[in-house]
Amino acid sequence: MRNVELKSRDPDPARTLELARRLGASDEGEITQRDTYFGGSRARVKLREQTPGEDELISYRRPDDAQERVSEYVRVAIPDAAALKEALDAAYGTKVVVSKKRHLLLWENVRIHLDEVEGLGSYMELEGLVEGDDDGPARERVERLRRELEIDDANLVSSSYGDLLSDGAAELLDAARVVMRNAHVPYSQFRVGAALRGAGGGIHVATNVENAAYPQSQCAEACAIGVMVAAGETKITAIAVVAENLDICPPCGGCRQRLAEFAGPDTPVHLDESTTTTLGELLPMSFGEAELHA
Ligand code: THU
Repeated sequence: MRNVELKSRDPDPARTLELARRLGASDEGEITQRDTYFGGSRARVKLREQTPGEDELISYRRPDDAQERVSEYVRVAIPDAAALKEALDAAYGTKVVVSKKRHLLLWENVRIHLDEVEGLGSYMELEGLVEGDDDGPARERVERLRRELEIDDANLVSSSYGDLLSDGAAELLDAARVVMRNAHVPYSQFRVGAALRGAGGGIHVATNVENAAYPQSQCAEACAIGVMVAAGETKITAIAVVAENLDICPPCGGCRQRLAEFAGPDTPVHLDESTTTTLGELLPMSFGEAELHA
């Protein structure tokens, strides 16, 4: 089987649902899904456990391209998912588990997925079934929906949820390292980059910005929080901080408190590819809104 697919972050799922309904898409309800990805080398392979619906094994191949792409897949109904999961884990190893709530709509043979993905946020997928050899008609229908649902090019995503979750740290650290080059540090020469992943899935980055009146300088984390809030995001799901002159750069005390305003004690803080701590470890017994109103 083949699909033409498109994936996007969805900053406003309620609006997308409304637009899809107005187009006449049929509402197929909500499905709770847990996908376990295994270490297949020729194709991605995942075991999907879902309620309602039959559990299934899905193997698929598709290019990592943010634009419409063709995915080839095979789906097999599985009567005993727990046993198969154990066998595949023993043979190939589990790479990542993706849990999500999927609101499914159908429009002219295109599946519209409004997904709430644990640890990533809100996403939307379009999957147009290819009938016969020609993927042209499916492409046209997906293109039309892309326009009608007002999908912003800036929100298109090329990776799978599994890759986004397992590579989340690498992507965030990369973003922090790239932005670090722009640091304004004429006084300390100490470049810092910070990247915050918001609950909506977006990455918000900034550097430290110094000032000739030294106390007016701002840390990279503080600047990144400002960037994030200006983008309409107020929940952080992961943090990366890097400094040019240090192998790892633990955030300063003030920034730990600033980050705690928007993140929880379990929020991961990535300091390099092999060093991840949590905000709770960096800021134990913290003071927050709960203490203020106790
Ligand atoms: N700095 C940050 O940007 N974040 C931190 O967590 C530690 C320190 C900056 C502030 C100043 O521009 C430079 O590093 C030296 O303190």
